Amino acid sequence: MKLSVIILAAGQGTRMHSARPKVLQTLAGKPLLGHMLDRARALGPDDICVVYGHGGDSVREALPDSDLRWALQAEQLGTGHAVQQALPDTPAGHQVLVLVGDIPLVQPATLQRLLDDADDGGVGVLTAELDDASGYGRIVRDAGGAVVRIAEDRDCSDAERALTEINTGVICCPRGRLAGWLDSLDADNAQREYYLTDIVAAAVADGVTVAGVTADTPEEVLGINDRLQLAEAERHWQRREARALLASGVTLADPARVDVRGRLSCGRDVFIDVNAVFSGDVTLGDEVSVGPGAVIRDSVVGAGTVIEAHSVIDGATLGERCRVGPFARLRPAALLADGARAGNFVEIKKSTIGRGSKVNHLTYIGDSDIGADVNVGAGTITCNYDGVNKHRTTIGDGAFIGSGVELVAPVEVGAGATIGAGSTIARPAPAEKLTVARSKQLTIDGWKRPTKTG
Ligand code: UD1
Ligand code: CA
Repeated sequence: MKLSVIILAAGQGTRMHSARPKVLQTLAGKPLLGHMLDRARALGPDDICVVYGHGGDSVREALPDSDLRWALQAEQLGTGHAVQQALPDTPAGHQVLVLVGDIPLVQPATLQRLLDDADDGGVGVLTAELDDASGYGRIVRDAGGAVVRIAEDRDCSDAERALTEINTGVICCPRGRLAGWLDSLDADNAQREYYLTDIVAAAVADGVTVAGVTADTPEEVLGINDRLQLAEAERHWQRREARALLASGVTLADPARVDVRGRLSCGRDVFIDVNAVFSGDVTLGDEVSVGPGAVIRDSVVGAGTVIEAHSVIDGATLGERCRVGPFARLRPAALLADGARAGNFVEIKKSTIGRGSKVNHLTYIGDSDIGADVNVGAGTITCNYDGVNKHRTTIGDGAFIGSGVELVAPVEVGAGATIGAGSTIARPAPAEKLTVARSKQLTIDGWKRPTKTG
């Protein structure tokens, strides 16, 4: 049977107390809605429709994917009303899977199990057994165990409130029957809303079987309504990431103290110390070591490279056997060739550091091309910005830049050149020669310190 997925994302998420619509709150650095789309796509559907409303176009703009249909729910009159907005363009004959927008931990295999159980024209409800079911809709079954309806938390009788099987917010049903059931809904309930959950009773009244499929673990269907639940979901997510890293052979100093907000792929025998944060797309080669508190985003790190404590690496490419940090900052388009070093309090942006070159202390390198085996002394600064434009600095192989040098770009230092400490270099420094640009040292004989007056 062909599949349409409808994701409900029009709600405000009042309990977040945020200016942002709830589905744009992030889990592991990605909006909740982005996670729901990932889960939906894993099922290979023929059609995905997102119902949006609160927050308006900000929700559409955050997810500019072209494979989506969008349906506006101008007024949030309930989950049933939300599905109605998506229905007109949902192809006839499809099986429809409705996902609430706030259960990002749900596993595609669980969703597939639900679809398989109900693909003979039946209705399927994904349920879970919770110790504390408060806030969720309860699954009401008859004496024979068949699902008869869903009672929303605020509408529950005392007996219903004691039930521990809950509605996860995932329901599937045949497109053909859904429109009629939605039309039959009323808002005669505690929230004065059109509840999607009421289609269960409508289906039962029509003699349609409702399969209650239970999720393997309650954590995967944790609904995120407030900041506490968001924080709990983040921890679940990070535990999963850590377990997957360990299973693939990565050593984690403490699986509870690493955060992956994106995709991290690692070679063999990688070591990651505590409190490292990875975001975007990060690739670590074989035997890379990442120090405590390192923050690495959208970067590629070559085999055997060591990243020392508290380094921040963003959009950089590091070769093999490099050494970075502690406290180094590599910014976008920093490129370190094999064996290069960037030490403490060194900032590198849009620059190439050649093979085996060292930039070890308190230095800013921007818009530069540095050759192989260059030594850049402590406190060197490339003055790359004249207030209007950026200019490049070029340093040839084997050059030696003394400490405290200012290189006023555009400027070129030849191969094998030596620059005396404290120089301000604004003109080409020829290869193989010593260039010094600093004022002569004077000593004044007989000079006296001033004495205090008054
Ligand atoms: C819903 C279910 C409840 C279930 C719980 C699971 C209903 C009536 N209740 O309750 O049975 O246990 O999820 O987490 O379905 N939304 C819209 N338009 C609206 C209202 C909501 O798009 O008019 C969207 C929200 O953006 C959200 C989702 O629907 O993504 C669920 O809304 P929410 O308010 O979180 O429902 P719950 O009260 O949690
Ligand atoms: Ca919810």
